[in-house]
Amino acid sequence: MPGEKINETEVVAPAMTELVRLAGNADQNRFVQYVTIKGLAFQHADWELAPEGNSSTQAAVEVPAAVMADGALNCRMENCEVAHVGNYEIWFRRGCKDCGVYYNRLYDLGAGGIRVGEDKMARTAFWPDAAWRDVVFSVVMLGGIVALALVFGPPELGKPPDPSIIEAYPRPDWYLLWYFAVLALLPHGTENYFIVFGPLLAGLLLICLPFISNRGERSPQRRPWAIAITLLVVIMIGVFWRAGISANWSPNFNALPLPKKVVGASTGPVAEGARVFYFKGCINCHLIERYGGRRGPSLTAIGNKLNKDQMILRISNGGLNNARLHREFDSSPTGRPRGIS
Ligand code: HEC
Repeated sequence: MPGEKINETEVVAPAMTELVRLAGNADQNRFVQYVTIKGLAFQHADWELAPEGNSSTQAAVEVPAAVMADGALNCRMENCEVAHVGNYEIWFRRGCKDCGVYYNRLYDLGAGGIRVGEDKMARTAFWPDAAWRDVVFSVVMLGGIVALALVFGPPELGKPPDPSIIEAYPRPDWYLLWYFAVLALLPHGTENYFIVFGPLLAGLLLICLPFISNRGERSPQRRPWAIAITLLVVIMIGVFWRAGISANWSPNFNALPLPKKVVGASTGPVAEGARVFYFKGCINCHLIERYGGRRGPSLTAIGNKLNKDQMILRISNGGLNNARLHREFDSSPTGRPRGIS
């Protein structure tokens, strides 16, 4: 500098970047506690600039501090002076709590005064920090199963199968009712593909999920969409389950011939039609007024809806799955439906 002489000048060459370190470790539950640094002056700390220089994205995040604190609890720095440092004054980095910086004089700092927190989100390692949850959950589950087995034991066996009982009861177990109701809505002919590939795709998706979407919020309060979708799925399953319960799964095999007051004639084509309707088994699946089964739609007013040709077409070709039902009954030697295939 002009006017300065080398032999009269005091030169300070800082050799350290860090002057004080509070080295606790919050991850291992080891903390530096109740340390107060008071009335001291810290001067001259360097920060080495890399040969390629430094261009910070924001707030000089890559620059450390002269006083570094990790895992510090209730520590204070007061009435101190920090000056001529190439970095920050103090940085409460990882796992610090209830610390304070009071009445210090900070000047000639390379990066800034006080830094709080880490520059990346805190992550918990799965092993061993997060794995204990899985362990606890598995133990509770297994314990629950063992306890149920001890307290209630296996369910009692029913009677052995009796081939003389021919009455069909095709309803699935209650927990599958909703699934069958979903299958009933699928386009004709796609059920088999859905049954085979649906669960496979769902399983693959669940396995891939941690790879596709592995960051973001975990707290349910901050995930309204996830909550809404889960609720929607639960409601949908409930609705399908109700539909499955109230659906008519089997024909009414005990239907009696149509009474006279419904037919309105005892001879002639109408009476003959009612006779065919009974003997061909149509009445097992279809209602006329309140008589018959509910497996197919009510045919009470079918004459207003379909003409003769349309009716023949519907019975022989069917919409969706009734072709099969109607064919079954046609080819059956007794003229009665064999049941639902
Ligand atoms: C095993 C049960 C079953 C039997 C037996 C049966 N049907 Fe059906 N039928 C159905 C079902 C189910 C449907 C509706 C299917 C659809 O729309 O895909 C249907 C539809 C019909 C329809 C069309 C109804 C409409 O509203 O479009 C007519 C007409 C019909 N059946 C007449 C008959 C007649 C006549 C017989 C006797 C010869 C008969 N069915 C026997 C199950 C049966």
